[in-house]
Amino acid sequence: MIWPTTPLTQLLQLDYPIIQAPMAGATTPAMAAAAANAGALGSLGCAMLRAEAMTAELRAAQAGTNRSLNVNFFVHDRPVPDEALNAEVAARLAPWHARLGTGASQAPADTIPVFDEALCEAVIACGPTVASFHFGLPEASLVERLKAAGILILSSATSAEEARWLEDHGADAIIAQGAEAGGHNGWFLPRRGADLTGTLALVPRVVDAVSVPVIAAGGIADGRGVAAALMLGASGVQVGTAFLATPECASPEVHKQAVVAATGDDTMATRAYSGRLARGITNDFSREMAAHADWPDFPLMNAATGPIRAASARAGLPDAVALWSGQGAGLVRAETTSQVVARLVAETESALARV
Ligand SMILES: Cc1cc2nc3c(=O)[nH]c(=O)nc-3n(C[C@H](O)[C@H](O)[C@H](O)COP(=O)(O)O)c2cc1C
Repeated sequence: MIWPTTPLTQLLQLDYPIIQAPMAGATTPAMAAAAANAGALGSLGCAMLRAEAMTAELRAAQAGTNRSLNVNFFVHDRPVPDEALNAEVAARLAPWHARLGTGASQAPADTIPVFDEALCEAVIACGPTVASFHFGLPEASLVERLKAAGILILSSATSAEEARWLEDHGADAIIAQGAEAGGHNGWFLPRRGADLTGTLALVPRVVDAVSVPVIAAGGIADGRGVAAALMLGASGVQVGTAFLATPECASPEVHKQAVVAATGDDTMATRAYSGRLARGITNDFSREMAAHADWPDFPLMNAATGPIRAASARAGLPDAVALWSGQGAGLVRAETTSQVVARLVAETESALARV
């Protein structure tokens, strides 16, 4: 029996082994509550939020559902500033400031919080089912405190080595994130120049490497993908891009339209928006910046491109918006969050019935 009851549905008390992905800047309390009420895990991407704002978002989601919810944070290394590179990047961005009339450039700055004591306390006070992390795990004492409060810990792995590391450091389930995934790739152990792995090759290797439930992520946007992930040994899936064109999504309209119009053959991974590799729909900015290999560390670059991204979105131009999207974009339709979950469920059932 791999559907709908799996070790993941039992661990997280879900009707279906589907996680609506946490997506900072895109997920909302309405989306998380709708996904949870539809039987999936509803998630909030809280990477940009400090404790008070995170609490308000999570409380709003909790007001809309009594089912399982997940709050997600970044645990990236603090960046090392490089003044010479900053000056070079300012010159690269200057034509974009002029083109979009932003008025002023913004120096690279460290503006995205790392999960800390205050956030840990606030999460424990709200008591969600899950806290999940991207780029590794927080320091051991914080992981211990969350676990002692009965909160389950999830994090993304992009290799079998990372999956083993996460299990050894307390993860209760592991998201095997393939290179097809939209948004930031979660790698955190040195890759020594190796390519990122696709979902099809990564999931079975991670399943073999760890004893906790494995969640497949990256390029899954319909029930055929869900069924395939279960066949690979995953206990569930984490789906992001398929929720971007919903009315509950907070992304700018230009992003939603681009995701619906995308074929899926038109995405690329770039460091130019934030300093870390992230996949989005190819646009003028990412195409032009592909000529440059060196970028200030994450999240310095995120601050530097902030005014350009915001001005492009305000003008309704896709040219310089970070149009985060996975390679499954060609399968995405404009639907509500609960319709996406219901469609994934129905399509998974018919895909499994064909086997
Ligand atoms: C717009 C967007 C924002 C994302 N933000 C986050 C985030 O804040 N935290 C996180 O762990 N993953 C984030 N991700 C990655 C997702 O968790 C997930 O790995 C990915 O969406 C799965 O691939 P898919 O987009 O092909 O479904 C983001 C993805 C997208 C598309």
